[in-house]
Amino acid sequence: MSLEGKHAVITGGSRGIGRGIALKLAENRVKVGIHYYQNERAANDTLAEVRKRGSQGFVVQADITRPDQIKAMFKNVRAEFGKLDIFVSNARPEVPTFFQPPLDITLEQWDTAFDSQAKAFLVGVREAIPLMSNGARIFAVTYAEGSRTGGLQPWVGMGSAKAALESLVRYFAVTLAKRGITVNAISPGWTEDSVLNTLPQQAQDLIRNWHVRGWTPAGRLGTPADIGNVVSLFCSEQSAWITGQVIYADGGASLMNPGVPPEIQLG
Ligand SMILES: NC(=O)c1ccc[n+]([C@@H]2O[C@H](COP(=O)([O-])OP(=O)(O)OC[C@H]3O[C@@H](n4cnc5c(N)ncnc54)[C@H](OP(=O)(O)O)[C@@H]3O)[C@@H](O)[C@H]2O)c1
Repeated sequence: MSLEGKHAVITGGSRGIGRGIALKLAENRVKVGIHYYQNERAANDTLAEVRKRGSQGFVVQADITRPDQIKAMFKNVRAEFGKLDIFVSNARPEVPTFFQPPLDITLEQWDTAFDSQAKAFLVGVREAIPLMSNGARIFAVTYAEGSRTGGLQPWVGMGSAKAALESLVRYFAVTLAKRGITVNAISPGWTEDSVLNTLPQQAQDLIRNWHVRGWTPAGRLGTPADIGNVVSLFCSEQSAWITGQVIYADGGASLMNPGVPPEIQLG
């Protein structure tokens, strides 16, 4: 699929899932703004990979919990590209900055979660819109399992923030429909080469085994490239009639029944 002539910015495009999105868009001839927070080297490595794929781009730094820095990032986008066709809100702060159960989470940690998701999306979309025209695409990367369940207790801040983010996706979808701009949330399942790889080895093994054992019917974890493919697909003209949706990109994991072991469900 060629998306030649289009320009994208991806928050957290330097690493993990955001990097997978940046590289797939680059393969489809999109010029990409690669945002990072603290790790400039990772952003430059991703930019080098973008160039190897025959596209171009630039790197831009911002703390997405700070609205003034998001605004400065879009000033850069305007200076570099002059226009914008694709905005992907994907960045998420490091897990220790918010990972606490409901009775322990500090208000600062709670704010970090909400500022990085719902508020960052609110500010980012409002900055992106003046650069966008008919046919543009906006994505929020969510984790819908965590936004509708209560099991992983220390996820309470981020789960609640993702729920607010998904709600905002629907409101923006209605606001922007008449302009021909779609707004969707993409919900990956557990994904390799991402935050997963920073967890203690035992936790990584448990999660991988659980999914390979059958919780993900496809029998493997997702990859950043899988998610990049989904974003690219939704950038096509043919996806213009889909807006305000949470798109599960998880190899079928969200279809499983949590009350029955995978071995019984899969027969
Ligand atoms: N990984 C999964 O299995 C999974 C599953 C479902 C949904 N998701 C969602 O997918 C998205 C990406 O997750 P990931 O695991 O790929 O992320 P990751 O590998 O942990 O990378 C996080 C990215 O966010 C940036 N970042 C961190 N703190 C920031 C801040 N305060 N301001 C701006 N940027 C900041 C990092 O930049 P620096 O490196 O420069 O600091 C990095 O580019 C998240 O929204 C996550 O909730 C992930």
